[in-house]
Amino acid sequence: MKGIILAGGFGTRLYPMTTNVSKQLLPIYDKPMIYYSISTLMELKIREILIISSKNFIPIYKDIFKNFNNFGLKILFKEQKYPNGIAESFIIGKKFIGRDNVTLILGDNFFYGINYDKIDLTKLNKNFGAKIFTYKVNEPKNYGVISIKNKEYVSKIEEKPRNPKSNFVATGLYVYDNTVVKNVKMLKPSKRGELEISDLNNLYIKQKKLEAVFLNSGSVWLDAGTAQDLLKASHFVQTIQDRQKILIGSPEAIALKNGWITKSELKKIINKMPKNEYSKNLLEII
Ligand code: DAU
Repeated sequence: MKGIILAGGFGTRLYPMTTNVSKQLLPIYDKPMIYYSISTLMELKIREILIISSKNFIPIYKDIFKNFNNFGLKILFKEQKYPNGIAESFIIGKKFIGRDNVTLILGDNFFYGINYDKIDLTKLNKNFGAKIFTYKVNEPKNYGVISIKNKEYVSKIEEKPRNPKSNFVATGLYVYDNTVVKNVKMLKPSKRGELEISDLNNLYIKQKKLEAVFLNSGSVWLDAGTAQDLLKASHFVQTIQDRQKILIGSPEAIALKNGWITKSELKKIINKMPKNEYSKNLLEII
């Protein structure tokens, strides 16, 4: 299973913070936003990851992740020339995906409290085509809203509808089999000129190959698309981390948990970090 993080776009809703900073590099409390999405892929045991962003920011991402191969990750980078839509990830990532299955996460999505063992991506069933993760929200109309039949079957996904048919929305985490590379070519740009991820998912629904995982209300999904959301996510991370003395969204901590590095290897990495709360907390985790 390969992983893609989509970390481009104009970050319009976060202007002027995003004048010359990539949105996914803005902090959620004590880490860049993208740390949380890479952590989610790592929790799913994905080690080969493609980061897609705009030309200006690729050198910065390369710098941020330059040492991540030390804990068992292979990270590649590719440019998105213009924000032509989320589904374009599979056109840009075609060569990277090769013959594998692929998981896409949006670089502004934050997940916490998910039972990752239950979502075992090494055990996808034979008829598997696509898997989406849905979450119940109070204000669904800014998202891809799902229509549900017989309490579990997703019959349609509508992108940002005026009159949402349910409170369940698609989060920015998607798993596809290799047919995604072919299926994405069938999409036409939407009215707003984008290759919509919801259109791609509707294709899988038509093929009867889309499975929806309903994240339970004890788990947390936030998207840090607006200043308010960014602040809420920061408060959330601070509250849980301080209370429990843990690190949320720490790739180093997850690499250790996954057995991708040893304690002594991690100690060496920590020794090269500045002495601050982050490195102190990592030491405590060891
Ligand atoms: O967060 C979940 C939602 O994400 C889903 O419910 C929607 O179905 C899906 O369309 C998407 O909605 P958003 O309104 O959040 O999409 P947005 O255009 O803000 O893009 C999400 C992230 O992807 C954002 O961080 C920027 C990045 N992006 C977006 C596009 C369209 C790119 O890097 N390139 C792109 O071409």
